[in-house]
Amino acid sequence: MAIAEHRRRRERLMRMMEPGSIAVLPAAEETMRNRDTAHLFRQDSDFYYLTGFEEPGALLVLAPGRAHGEVILFCQERDPVFERWNGERVGPDRAQQVLAVDDAFPMGDVEDILPGLLEGRERIYVTLGEHPAFDADLLGWVKGIRAREASGARPPGEFVALRHLLHDLRLVKSAAELKLMRKAAGITVGAHLRAMRTTKPGLTEAHIEAEIIHEFMRNGARFPAYPCIVGAGANACIMHYVRNDATMKDGDLVLVDAGCEYQYYASDVTRTFPINGRFTGEQRAVYEIVLAAQAAAIKAAQPGAHFNVPHEMAIDVMVDGLLNEGLLNGDKAEIIEAGTYQQFCVHKTSHWLGIDVHDVGDYRVDGTWRALEPGMVITVEPGIYIAKDEPDAPQRFRGMGIRIEDDVLITKTGNEVLTAAAPKQIDTIEAAMHG
Ligand code: GLY
Ligand code: MN
Ligand code: MN
Repeated sequence: MAIAEHRRRRERLMRMMEPGSIAVLPAAEETMRNRDTAHLFRQDSDFYYLTGFEEPGALLVLAPGRAHGEVILFCQERDPVFERWNGERVGPDRAQQVLAVDDAFPMGDVEDILPGLLEGRERIYVTLGEHPAFDADLLGWVKGIRAREASGARPPGEFVALRHLLHDLRLVKSAAELKLMRKAAGITVGAHLRAMRTTKPGLTEAHIEAEIIHEFMRNGARFPAYPCIVGAGANACIMHYVRNDATMKDGDLVLVDAGCEYQYYASDVTRTFPINGRFTGEQRAVYEIVLAAQAAAIKAAQPGAHFNVPHEMAIDVMVDGLLNEGLLNGDKAEIIEAGTYQQFCVHKTSHWLGIDVHDVGDYRVDGTWRALEPGMVITVEPGIYIAKDEPDAPQRFRGMGIRIEDDVLITKTGNEVLTAAAPKQIDTIEAAMHG
């Protein structure tokens, strides 16, 4: 992503901020996996969105109207010994040029410099609660300014949540963001095809996960956007199944929910297919219901429709289908009203997608569902799950979990399914598995 894009985002955010305010946003900190070994570092999503800077130990300050520069970055100083072991740092001296910020200081100088930046501003935009150690420091600095009020210091009077403004920006994707999301989608489609081609009875779920991760990494996506779910048979009914250590059995389905993160942008795709390459009659029947529900939901994902419309469409189709198969009994309207379908349809149909897999942005505004707008990206992912001990289901349906998930960009005229190339019709899946 061009650094100018990050600069434009900061400018837009500063224009949205109330007069007399300042925003402060810390970078992510390294977290330890075990004693002295850290998790692979990933930058905080908001911080990355505004800076494109991938180091820990940094702080972004936006101070609209500041004469010496509105955008200030604190970051770690260069250090030959550290860099020999861990790689190059940008360092404050190069930050202006590399990151297009106005001013940069060593992180060690925050305590000396930040209180002076806060003083005289009426409100501070912060992500309170997400970086507790930083929050405590910040309160300490504000208190320090208050202590000098008698001698003329002007402490900020208000803390305001930064997330409403910032996350509204993140919700609508730019052309540059969509380019990365298309790339993420393309890599993920390739991984699902490879999963279909590889799957056969006797392999473990982990074998399929490994194929997927290999496909991600060799295409430049170092991380999955979330841990891969490869659930064979009844494991597909566990929503966040990530053990992936069972052996895949002839005659069962496998549910694969996997998406890569490409240059900080997520994809999120689920395909469900028969381990031996052929759907049974029962599998086909339930699969066709979910597929029809997904088609109806995608069709309903239109600009101007509210966020929950695709979910309502999916539920309508799935309840019809479950009634037809005798898995639900009773009056359709009552089932929907009472929510008894949730025995089989466990989760909602959509979420925002972007830098985070469950991306930011309010789903409701002033208590009502938000309208979909061009540039928003959602998933559409209906599912039916019939637990292995489900007393209300005939034996032949038990232990079956089916979800079909695609990533859908809302456009001016309708939508574009970014992940459409991953097979999901019964015949195209069977063909991919036998090709
Ligand atoms: N993979 C997480 C989700 O589908 O929401
Ligand atoms: Mn998913
Ligand atoms: Mn999802």
